[in-house]
Amino acid sequence: MVYTVGVAGAGTMGAGIAQVCAQQGLRTLLYDVNTGLAHQALANIRKTWETLEAKGKLTSEQVARAVDNLQVVSQIQQLKSDLLVEAIVERPDIKQELYRAWEEANSEEALLVSNTSSLSIDVLAATLRHPQRFAGLHFFNPAPLMKLVEIVVGRKTPGEVVATLKNFCERIGKVAVVVKDSPGFIVNRVARPFYTEAFDMLDRGVVLPAALDAALRNAGFKMGPCELTDLIGQDINYAVTGGLYESFDRAERFTPSEAQGRLVREGKLGKKSGEGFYAYAK
Ligand SMILES: NC(=O)c1ccc[n+]([C@@H]2O[C@H](COP(=O)([O-])OP(=O)(O)OC[C@H]3O[C@@H](n4cnc5c(N)ncnc54)[C@H](O)[C@@H]3O)[C@@H](O)[C@H]2O)c1
Repeated sequence: MVYTVGVAGAGTMGAGIAQVCAQQGLRTLLYDVNTGLAHQALANIRKTWETLEAKGKLTSEQVARAVDNLQVVSQIQQLKSDLLVEAIVERPDIKQELYRAWEEANSEEALLVSNTSSLSIDVLAATLRHPQRFAGLHFFNPAPLMKLVEIVVGRKTPGEVVATLKNFCERIGKVAVVVKDSPGFIVNRVARPFYTEAFDMLDRGVVLPAALDAALRNAGFKMGPCELTDLIGQDINYAVTGGLYESFDRAERFTPSEAQGRLVREGKLGKKSGEGFYAYAK
């Protein structure tokens, strides 16, 4: 059973995951290498809870309990938890370094999961002292709103760990689906042509971002590809496409887009940086 959750990374995903866990009654510890960022995330989450209370979606008691459940820690050694959800930068070496430090501070029974969108769970597990405690737990953005979580099963992930993770997902109100470790898991692989086809049209100068988004939104999609990747983070989305492209022997259908690559190089990462395909007020 999971009673205490550690969340590493207080960016877009980590902050959302921590909000969900604390709101659903779990003791939650939030850690970021940049402690200031973690405190900023905590302040934003509290503001969100106040808004939800003002709208009548949470009671004052629920908000008080959630606030009580969520705490920032400044050292990895303080991240003592039954489950660590890692949601840090998409770099295998940095993730593995964090796992090493976390394993030293936690018992063999504690579970460790990565929220990675594009890295192989088996590759990430390779340097672990206890790889049988590891799996992928892929939340979607925005984590408080998106119901789906993909449980990504590595070669060494046993059935009991999958069962505990299913139970955890249910406990925090998510719908879990199980998939074996494979490039893009389910959604990122199936949805990839949505992005690559759309951005190929931008690369060819056939259409502009606003027209592309308006067309797809008015055809029934919740968001167009440009506004959606601005929300996801252009760097994250571009890395997923690149990962799939390499994993599938540079299959044409996964070709990364020039327009998106340019945005990433210019630091126009979307909402989080203030500009992507569109400009955002800070
Ligand atoms: N953005 C999305 O839509 C999305 C969706 C699903 C999964 N993911 C995955 O979630 C993970 C995080 O993505 P994000 O969009 O939240 O990134 P982000 O850039 O918003 O946040 C990453 C955070 O990690 C912190 N960090 C970096 N190195 C660290 C370290 N060594 N220890 C602790 N903290 C560290 C950074 O300071 C930053 O706050 C990635 O693996 C990504 O693939 C992202």
